[in-house]
Amino acid sequence: MTTSSVQRVGERLGLAPRDVLEALLSSVPDAVYVVDPDGRVEFANPAALELLGYEEEELLGRISHPTIHHHRWDGTPFPQEECPMLRPRQTGETVRVDGDCFWRKDGTPFRVAYSSAPLPMSTGRGAVVVFRDVTARIEAEEAARREAVERARAQEIHDSRARILAAADTERRRLGRDLHDGAQQRLVRVLLALKQAEGSCGDPVAGGHLREAIREAEEAIAELRDLVTGVHPAILTTRGLAAAIDSLAARLPLITTVSVTDRRFAPSLEAAAYFVVAEALTNVVKHAGAEEVHVRIDERGDGLCIEVKDDGRGGARAEGGSGLRGLADRAAAFDGTLEIVSEPGQGTRLRVAIPVP
Ligand SMILES: Nc1ncnc2c1ncn2[C@@H]1O[C@H](COP(=O)(O)OP(=O)(O)OP(=O)(O)O)[C@@H](O)[C@H]1O
Ligand SMILES: [Mg+2]
Repeated sequence: MTTSSVQRVGERLGLAPRDVLEALLSSVPDAVYVVDPDGRVEFANPAALELLGYEEEELLGRISHPTIHHHRWDGTPFPQEECPMLRPRQTGETVRVDGDCFWRKDGTPFRVAYSSAPLPMSTGRGAVVVFRDVTARIEAEEAARREAVERARAQEIHDSRARILAAADTERRRLGRDLHDGAQQRLVRVLLALKQAEGSCGDPVAGGHLREAIREAEEAIAELRDLVTGVHPAILTTRGLAAAIDSLAARLPLITTVSVTDRRFAPSLEAAAYFVVAEALTNVVKHAGAEEVHVRIDERGDGLCIEVKDDGRGGARAEGGSGLRGLADRAAAFDGTLEIVSEPGQGTRLRVAIPVP
């Protein structure tokens, strides 16, 4: 609104232009103050006084920069000669700044967006400054930025954990295959040769030694087979989850029922499901004192549900050892969940749900 339009409104309403301006400046939500050519506050509207925490008579006559603009938001001093608010008085330009800060009378800062425009006066060039408290907006922006960084970091941890597990699984697969195709096959050939030698040996003493060697070789083969099963059973790669878990269950010293989907999944997912069941079954044998155990793997919704349930003594806790914690990590690496229900005396139900992409 120009001076002449203020005058016109004044004439129409029967008010002095000064009263019109005063009414306008007291009712606008923006804070407004005016400084003279020396930077002294000549005028401040009620919104400015309220935001800065001053009474009018306390603020008028003070030099604005050392009063409300003396430090930056990071707490470092703000030399007056570097202050952009000086420029309107020096050069006649209008300056707009967003995200700066002003200081209240009580010494606390708040974030502001302001514009400072030159104002010709009889004594020289002053400036009119209009500002607004933007603390809430900036805090919201900063919180959103922090959240985005946190999210990215969490995603990176999740991805790197998945990469580490995948690399370990690949290595286990290779090791399992090498053991199965290498040492295990060789030992089987040694066993056959020993059996042939024993069959055609007429010497009773040498025959006794050969029988002993056969027994040792058979035990070594069984031990190696168990080792391969723990590392990565070949059957999991060649025939899938159902066959691998059947063979795992067949060696358990307790009543076991198995119901596993015949579908094939990505090798990493099959390995994860297999190791969940292997660890859960090892726990049942080691800790549960159970008579029966049920293993079930089926597709539910858009995921794979793996459940191992025993009728043993219960009391399983994920914090107890590295086994269950490892399962929780495995589940998390696949965006899945681990749930353990294990009241003392009421058996244990371990359930892992993994979404299938
Ligand atoms: N099926 C279960 N029945 C009863 N207790 C269990 C069962 N499974 C686990 N627990 C208890 O929970 C604890 C944690 O199990 P977890 O598999 O993490 O460790 P662990 O088997 O003792 O050692 P690790 O698996 O590292 O070799 C076990 O020490 C055991 O006390
Ligand atoms: Mg364990």
